[in-house]
Amino acid sequence: TLLFFQEKTLGGQHWVITAGPTREAIDPVRYISNHSSGKMGYAIAQAAVNAGANVTIISGPVSISAPAGCKVINVESAEQMHQAAMKQSDNADVFIACAAVADYRAADIAPQKMKKSSQDMSISLVRNPDIVKDVAAKANKPFVVGFAAETQDVETYALGKLTSKKLDMICANDVSIATQGFNANQNALTVFDKDSSTEIPLADKAMVATQLVKLIAEKRS
Ligand code: CTP
Ligand code: CA
Repeated sequence: TLLFFQEKTLGGQHWVITAGPTREAIDPVRYISNHSSGKMGYAIAQAAVNAGANVTIISGPVSISAPAGCKVINVESAEQMHQAAMKQSDNADVFIACAAVADYRAADIAPQKMKKSSQDMSISLVRNPDIVKDVAAKANKPFVVGFAAETQDVETYALGKLTSKKLDMICANDVSIATQGFNANQNALTVFDKDSSTEIPLADKAMVATQLVKLIAEKRS
C-alpha cells in the first residue's frame, strides 16, 4: 500500500467524491452513458481514506467495488447525482467531481420499450444540471476540485472550466493517449489552481490519487 500520509492527516475531514458514469434512460430498457469506469474516483477515495478522511462516494453504475471504510451513495442519472451532491456537500470540506456526468438526458423517457419502424428516428435531448458548478456556487462551499478530460487543447479548456465553474482546482488529463484515457489503469494529470500548475506524471491510478490527495490537502490549508 501507498503510505505517504500520517494516518490522521485528514482526520475529522469529510471528503465527497463523485465517480463513474451517469446513465440517462431513454425507455425502460435503454440508456445513454459513457465509458467511465470509476477507477480514478475510487482510487482518490481510497487515498483519502488512507489519510484518515471520512469519505462519501456518490457513484454512478460501475463494476468495481468501493474501498473499505467509504460511505457509498449509488445513483444512476445526472439528476440523482446532482441531488445527492447538493445534500452531501453541505457538510463537506472537500468536493471532488470525478464523475463523467452525461451532459444531456432524453427530454422524455418513453414509458414502454420503444418499437422500431421503417423510418429513421431521433431523440430529443435536454441539458443536465452542472453538478460541480452548482456545488461551487453554494454559500458555504467546500474546497471544490474538478476534472477535465480533453482530447485537444487540454490546458485551454481546463483553465476555461476552472474559471467558468468557479473551481478551486482542476485536474486536466489528455484522454487522447490510450494509456491514460477512460478505463485505463494509469493516469497522468496536470493540476491547475488560480496561480500555479503541478504535473502528476503517468503512474498507476493509486499513485496518482495519493499525490492528488496530498496536493489538495496542501493547497486548502
Ligand atoms: N461536471 C458536472 N456536472 C455536469 C458535467 C460535468 O459536475 N453536468 C463536472 C465533471 O465531473 C468534471 C467537470 O465538470 O469535474 C468537467 O467536466 P467536463 O465534461 O470535462 O466539462 P463540461 O463542462 O461538461 O464541458 P464539455 O463536456 O463540453 O467539455
Ligand atoms: Ca461534459
